[in-house]
Amino acid sequence: MDDYEELHAKSIADPEAFWAEQAAELSWQKSWHSVLDWNDAPFAKWFDGGKINAAENCLDRHVADGRGDEVAIYWVGEPGDTRNITFSELLSETCRFANAMIARGVKSGDRVLIYMPMVPEAAIAMLACARIGAVHSVVFGGFSATSIKDRLEDSEATTIITADGGWRRGNVVPLKANVDEALENYDAVENVFVLKRCENEIKMTEGRDAWWHDATADMSDFCPAEGFDAEHPLFILYTSGSTGKPKGILHTTGGYLTGTATTFKYVFDHQKDDIYWCTADVGWITGHSYIVYGPMANGAAQVMYEGAPNQPDWDRFWQIVAEYKVTIFYTAPTAIRAFIKAGDHHVDKHDLSSLRLLGTVGEPINPEAWMWYHEKIGAGRCPIVDTWWQTETGAIMITPLPGATPLKPGTATRPFLGIDAAILDETGEECGPNEGGKLVIRKPWPSMLRTIYKDPERFKETYWNEYEGIYLAGDGARTDDDSYFWIVGRLDDVLNVSGHRLGTAEVESALVSHEAVAEAAAVGRPHDIKGQAVVAFVTLKEGIDHGDELALELRQHVGAEIGAIAKPDDIRFTQTLPKTRSGKIMRRLLKEIVSGGEVKGDTTTLEDFNVVASLQKED
Ligand code: WT7
Repeated sequence: MDDYEELHAKSIADPEAFWAEQAAELSWQKSWHSVLDWNDAPFAKWFDGGKINAAENCLDRHVADGRGDEVAIYWVGEPGDTRNITFSELLSETCRFANAMIARGVKSGDRVLIYMPMVPEAAIAMLACARIGAVHSVVFGGFSATSIKDRLEDSEATTIITADGGWRRGNVVPLKANVDEALENYDAVENVFVLKRCENEIKMTEGRDAWWHDATADMSDFCPAEGFDAEHPLFILYTSGSTGKPKGILHTTGGYLTGTATTFKYVFDHQKDDIYWCTADVGWITGHSYIVYGPMANGAAQVMYEGAPNQPDWDRFWQIVAEYKVTIFYTAPTAIRAFIKAGDHHVDKHDLSSLRLLGTVGEPINPEAWMWYHEKIGAGRCPIVDTWWQTETGAIMITPLPGATPLKPGTATRPFLGIDAAILDETGEECGPNEGGKLVIRKPWPSMLRTIYKDPERFKETYWNEYEGIYLAGDGARTDDDSYFWIVGRLDDVLNVSGHRLGTAEVESALVSHEAVAEAAAVGRPHDIKGQAVVAFVTLKEGIDHGDELALELRQHVGAEIGAIAKPDDIRFTQTLPKTRSGKIMRRLLKEIVSGGEVKGDTTTLEDFNVVASLQKED
């Protein structure tokens, strides 16, 4: 820990020196002339003048090092089919698919939407984009046709990469059919590549759609890895904010790769013989940073699993850990809580002695879940790295370093090297120990978001307006007497459902788009597995009666507008919503009502106190 303190102090005294040293571990085609250009803050330029290819760093480099025959991905399909793919094979397939895109006119800078199941081709599609400088935007396979369309319109993507379907809990998710629905009355998309995965029946539109295997059949497995500017956009990933419209978080190449590669190496203490497994989906930032770019830049061997944790039963993960002798396992607290509920006998069936390090991400981990993870999965032997970071930060920001940081259940502990994290009060003063405040990052870091795609004003407003030149994370936090960071949760109207970010405004705008709904307010309620569950208060248009079916219909409507993850657990019909005198819905009161408590907070601005009384009665 003393070493950490010394290294950390040194790294934040001169972050540019620290990050330049890390960036130099990557393979650059031309080196940079300036490490950081912050003159146009908050628009950062890292490693300006440098030229780099992200795919070359993830693939060619390892093949050139003589590691081409080593397995990069041990893939497990949900139905039980498996594939082992070496670095050489991954490189050939990436090149072949990159050539197929080039043959169909995809160029550097074009946006490509990826909507895939968890198959190796999802990673190949991302790497193929990176290889030719196309900007990928992965849309989680659980999102709906409407979500695809919104992201197509915002990113102006002209190419889509998808599959006929993907396996989830024994069913086929109709990915291509969802893409078709998104493309009804939308003709800006020129190419749709379709991987054959489930062999479910689909429609192909001539001239626009091509099977992956046909498009790559005659393609060469050589595709040059052009060096792109360090600040060339690598991807856009949409995430929920406090309005109804998700934000397109833009990451660029050199800094992002530096941040993910460095954190992967140190946080997971990655060694040559490790078998790593991150259970996230590539549709989220965790999949981008810690399945694709971080591990692959380090030449890690990893497991990739297509399906659900309980298919066919709740021991599926442990069976995979035992079979592949996984050494590093990275998952989310919500999954851990689901395993606890499913029962220890599922764990006891399998030999987990290969594990040496465990990780969590996505939300604060409750100490009970931490203890169970530590004892039951780690047999008391494996450190747990509780990693705090965000879609925006690109890479892990607050985390223990295994072996160095003494652990405490429930805290992500201390900032990573080169990261100047702090907790500030309303006036911008640093909070003392045990004093709650706002989590910020005081100095730029290489894997930081560069902007919100096509909306630089929203970028400035959301992250840089509270404190001059300082990044506002949007989380409330405090430090303890050991300067460990405890994350309390979001300060904005963003929920964390099963470790995924969901804007209450998004759910509300989905609800009011239904013809029966006049007004809606969505709030989070504590949930013992999901962390938070969505509860929606709904007022109906004049003359409409909610009957028995409407709640079900509204849930389905939200599912169709956003995705299953956003469906409210509970829909409560009400005559009126509590509002301030200026007409703002008082979500805080609704939150108190659904959390089972009395309404304690300040109600002096409430327009009509009877509303609260009646909502509590309905409760
Ligand atoms: C939000 C970011 C980072 C990948 C997954 C989620 C919460 C994330 C932790 C943690 C406490 C955490 C924060 C953050 N969060 N990790 N270890 N402890 N809270 O990415 O969707 O961008 O969400 O997740 O509230 O702001 P995301």
